[in-house]
Amino acid sequence: MKPMLHSCVLLTLFPFCSAELFRVEAERIMEEMPLIDGHNDLPWQLLKKFNNRLSAAPANLTLLNDTHTNIPKLRRGHVGGQFWAAYVPCDTQNKDAVKRTLEQIDVIHRMCDKYPEAFVCVTSSAGIEDAFRAKKVASLIGVEGGHSIDSSLGALRMFYRLGVRYMTLTHSCNTPWVDNWLVDMDQEQPVHNGLSDFGKRVVREMNRLGMLVDLAHVSVQTMEDALEVSKAPVIFSHSSAYELCRSRRNVPDNILRRVNQTGGLVMVNFYNLYVSCKKEAANLSQVADHLDHIKKVAGAAAVGFGGDYDGVTTVPQGLEDVSKYPDLVAELLRRKWTEAEVKDALAGNLLRVFRKVEEIRDSLSREAPDDEPIAYEALGGQCRTSYGYPARASASLPSRLPAALLGPLLYSLLP
Ligand SMILES: *[C@@H]1O[C@H](CO)[C@@H](O)[C@H](O)[C@H]1NC(C)=O
Ligand SMILES: *[C@@H]1O[C@H](CO)[C@@H](O)[C@H](O)[C@H]1NC(C)=O
Ligand SMILES: *[C@@H]1O[C@H](CO)[C@@H](O)[C@H](O)[C@H]1NC(C)=O
Ligand SMILES: *[C@@H]1O[C@H](CO)[C@@H](O)[C@H](O)[C@H]1NC(C)=O
Ligand SMILES: [Zn+2]
Repeated sequence: MKPMLHSCVLLTLFPFCSAELFRVEAERIMEEMPLIDGHNDLPWQLLKKFNNRLSAAPANLTLLNDTHTNIPKLRRGHVGGQFWAAYVPCDTQNKDAVKRTLEQIDVIHRMCDKYPEAFVCVTSSAGIEDAFRAKKVASLIGVEGGHSIDSSLGALRMFYRLGVRYMTLTHSCNTPWVDNWLVDMDQEQPVHNGLSDFGKRVVREMNRLGMLVDLAHVSVQTMEDALEVSKAPVIFSHSSAYELCRSRRNVPDNILRRVNQTGGLVMVNFYNLYVSCKKEAANLSQVADHLDHIKKVAGAAAVGFGGDYDGVTTVPQGLEDVSKYPDLVAELLRRKWTEAEVKDALAGNLLRVFRKVEEIRDSLSREAPDDEPIAYEALGGQCRTSYGYPARASASLPSRLPAALLGPLLYSLLP
């Protein structure tokens, strides 16, 4: 197939023809090395549209037609691996976040069970490679936001056992142990100035378990702290380049250089607002600019794809749904990315990071689980019991509420 690329170069005077050839070349490469995407919110759509009733006739994932994602589109897009987001919004924090996260993990497992010809749920780098060989979508679970563990290392460990292989440290809210990106937008006050001491222990426990640390959605100081604390390389599962669009959801160059030094990965988000900084307009070529920029600053080993499909309201012209990835790969080839660089961005880089995370987990296998709970005073909300915190044995009676909680409670009763 090499001669094809040569004729392509010769034919650049005929743009029509060469565009076609880059597309053919992209297909060939993706047959050999399919794409692993860092973040897809189809499970959230399943909750919103069907209350997670996969058995409802219109929830058929082959026929689903008002989402960015369905099974035929995944096939056309040569998607061979997908981190499905077990996302629940920040307003579940201190309420039913853990239960709702469990339900999103459940719906992902049920997707795999109901469509075994399309999906296989996997939990390891080797599992992804097996799925590639079986021509199925390796399905992995990412929990999007530290609020989902309700400040509990026990909940974190059980999520790991249920197959969760990354956790985004925050979504769009601070938790009792880590600050989110909105503090850099002056939309929320910094509380921990990055990771608190407990937050650092969460990251270390993730290293011990073998769960990828995801820094999409966190504040810049949290990125720096996590890069400092984590023994394993980190990922940004769906973030683009700050230098090209000054959104705080994107990764600044100084952090890209740290990603380069630590062998991490930035999986580019396609949301118009993070690509062009304009919600209404962006295009495929601008997404390729982000990939080029990350390659330039962090190196080709740090580039990946994290489309954020079905989690965003607008996507670029030319990247309308998950079937369009080969067009983006064709654009990278047109921009003279080598076949090896393209294959690394498609899957090689994620596999390398994942293997490193597994290797570090294995090297820490003699370490005991961290069983020191967060301080009771650090927790928020008014619905909590305090079992296990001796001084607070009967704190669940309103008349005995700890003083730390009384203030917010009284405050919330004001009109
Ligand atoms: C989309 O799917 C729904 C439910 O399966 C079906 O009724 C409708 O005709 C479909 N629309 C298109 C444009 O295919
Ligand atoms: C989804 O629809 C297709 C096409 O009608 C059908 O063959 C398949 O059995 C359905 N899948 C499920 C799980 O209902
Ligand atoms: C993509 O959008 C940019 C900015 O509007 C524009 O300059 C460029 O020509 C567009 N590219 C294509 C291929 O449409
Ligand atoms: C860091 O970036 C340089 C320059 O792009 C590159 O040569 C090097 O391989 C990168 N290192 C890693 C670990 O990606
Ligand atoms: Zn997100």
